[in-house]
Amino acid sequence: ASTLGAAAAQSGRYFGAAISRGHLGEAQYVNTWTAEFNGVTPENEMKWDTVEPNRNQFNFGPADAIVSQARSRGMAVRGHTLVWHAQLGGWVSGLDASNLRSAMQNHISQVAGHWKGQIYAWDVVNEAFEENGTRRQSVFQQKLGDGYIEEAFRAARTADPNAKLCYNDYNTDGINSKSTGIYNMVRDFKSRGVPIDCVGFQSHLSSNSNLSSYQANLQRFADLGVDVQITELDVGGSGSGQANVYRTVTQACMAVSRCTGITVWGVTDKYSWRASDTPLLFDGNYGKKQAYSAVLDAL
Ligand code: XIL
Repeated sequence: ASTLGAAAAQSGRYFGAAISRGHLGEAQYVNTWTAEFNGVTPENEMKWDTVEPNRNQFNFGPADAIVSQARSRGMAVRGHTLVWHAQLGGWVSGLDASNLRSAMQNHISQVAGHWKGQIYAWDVVNEAFEENGTRRQSVFQQKLGDGYIEEAFRAARTADPNAKLCYNDYNTDGINSKSTGIYNMVRDFKSRGVPIDCVGFQSHLSSNSNLSSYQANLQRFADLGVDVQITELDVGGSGSGQANVYRTVTQACMAVSRCTGITVWGVTDKYSWRASDTPLLFDGNYGKKQAYSAVLDAL
């Protein structure tokens, strides 16, 4: 196959990119996205501060612009994200516990309900763990306690029963304290019937990232009975160092049958959130980088 999406599809996987609505007017951006990728994650447009800037006042237009283009082309859409401590509407953090609980439930039911049946997988909860494997002390954790994560997953299942429901985090690129904390939560959820279907590994990496247990880590989650996905891949660097890391990550996903897809966190280096790291597969002129060939060969 000659594109990332078509190559991934040969094994039943998708290869996606994070897309920003603000660039949809640029022909080269849209052309590269739609030619090469068969999946999408709205980069910011489904986050709480955008979709519910004031309590019970919803703004779905920016994400709808991306979702409608993606669906007309048959792409898998990843919903990102329902419950996260960052890019949270300012009004949320001031609520007391009972208002926060009902606001979270309402947010999930309205947002996941709006795109019901159109989302392949939702990042239901994002970045809820610390590096040492304990819970991040977010406003949700502090006011609602440990149970907020399962409450969020149950609400998401009710709102969109056909979407895969994922937990998503970063610095989980191997067997370490953080990934083990998450692993223990997923194992507990599976044993108690809490609805969780997948775990996302953001994988914001650099050329010297240590990936010695990357595949084994994906596999141990898969062995719990969940799918895994690489959800926000980018690799700071250039040339063969960068290409090698991209190759290793792609090969790891390909070697784990429950690794169902890879998403890179943008199309072109010029619009990356880490632009100075030139971490993506296409340069600022939409030229294919060495990393692109490494990924295509590995798919
Ligand atoms: C980033 C976006 O790329 C930026 O445009 C925005 O300013 C901040 O958020 N983890 C996540 C993503 O889950 O939502 C973040 O995206 C990158 C880190």
